[in-house]
Amino acid sequence: MSVVVVMGAQWGDEGKGKFVDLLAAQAEVVVRATGGANAGHTVWANGQQYKLHQIPSGILYPGTLCLIGHGVVLDPAKLLQEMEYLRGKGVDLSNLRISAGAHVVFPYHIRLDEAEEDRKGANKIGTTRRGIGPAYMDKFARVGIRLIDLLDKDEFLPKLAAQVEAKNQLLDRVYGMPGFTVEEIAGPYLEYAEQLRPFVANTVELVNDAIDTGKNVLFEGAQGHLLDIDFGTYPYVTASHPIAAGAIIGAGVGPTRINKVVGVVKAYTSRVGEGPFPTELMDATGEVIREKGHEYGTTTGRPRRIGWLDLVMVRFACRVSGITDLAVPHLDTLAKTGLKTLKVCVGYRLPDGTVTKEFPVGLKALAQVTPVYEELENWAWSESLSKAQKLEELPEGAQRYVKLIEDYTGVPVSILGIGSERTEAIYRDTMFGA
Ligand code: IMP
Ligand code: MG
Repeated sequence: MSVVVVMGAQWGDEGKGKFVDLLAAQAEVVVRATGGANAGHTVWANGQQYKLHQIPSGILYPGTLCLIGHGVVLDPAKLLQEMEYLRGKGVDLSNLRISAGAHVVFPYHIRLDEAEEDRKGANKIGTTRRGIGPAYMDKFARVGIRLIDLLDKDEFLPKLAAQVEAKNQLLDRVYGMPGFTVEEIAGPYLEYAEQLRPFVANTVELVNDAIDTGKNVLFEGAQGHLLDIDFGTYPYVTASHPIAAGAIIGAGVGPTRINKVVGVVKAYTSRVGEGPFPTELMDATGEVIREKGHEYGTTTGRPRRIGWLDLVMVRFACRVSGITDLAVPHLDTLAKTGLKTLKVCVGYRLPDGTVTKEFPVGLKALAQVTPVYEELENWAWSESLSKAQKLEELPEGAQRYVKLIEDYTGVPVSILGIGSERTEAIYRDTMFGA
């Protein structure tokens, strides 16, 4: 048995969905512990594409218990839509459980997210405009409304009234925007509460029971290391903890219970939203990777910014989260680009000419670094990779690429993605023990 955390080691959208889905085949419990409707996980299974936002990808396996922990900020309208979408695809939802401790996203959070982004103008963060930041702000300001409140009308209505009054003042006086009435929010939200009530459970007990009884438990990360509120490229970050520690806080398990942390590293780098990006490609090379990798946001549809693989960044993620294994998807995407030479960033040159492996604190410093690249020549190949079973069966260039990642980070690449389907992966180690 094992307890495994899967997290993004870059700026999100590393392809975590695919590996979570692969590992979920062996997991008995899958937990989502951070973030909210900002996340977008694309999974291909049985020739069908599934786009998930708040529900753990493990839901695609009948019988797998899927938990949404209290660290998540829950948008009930969007969650119910997602549930409908999955039901429409024949997915059984009877094993979904939601923590009553999760904070709830309200329409005023979404309006405030938009208003604040628009106010910032050129300095905007580039958020997903899902109300994530304002919902976490309320949580930490200790005025948030949790699912447990929503389920109890007598608790909920006064709390909502207080929040509507406060938020209306903010919307009006700071942003010059219209506010909300209590009724227009309370009506639909009380209905959402009834629809969600059957799914609410004590997820802390469920996940700890599962671990105590030797079950395989998988924590499904959202976003990525560089979007972490503390370790990411602040302020161009999300408002939660995509690092491995976020999983234990957001689900309510102790750090001693985690056996493995799998960091997902896409074979190149992408990001949505603003902020410095040292290896960004603004040319035709970036364009071809974006097209072959279908690099458009799952949640917002925005074209993602593309760059070469940055191992300085990945090494930082490995340290902060104690990553034990790397998973590398999209090797096939790079192959399809037909690029003859690949570049990988192995250091940052500072303005004084010295080269470092340390990721800087602060955006000013990050904007001033110049990436130092190692070039992998004659990397390309033409044959399809999707049938390979072992690393040794991949073209020599791909093997060199994997070795470079391992040598630099000191962490083994234990899983490789060589196509979008579930089966198109190479395992070099089992994540859930023998
Ligand atoms: P927020 O999470 O909507 O507040 O957005 C803050 C930053 O995180 C923005 O740069 C978003 O584009 C980014 N972000 C949030 N969720 C995701 C995700 O799931 N994948 C990639 N980027 C994300
Ligand atoms: Mg995504």
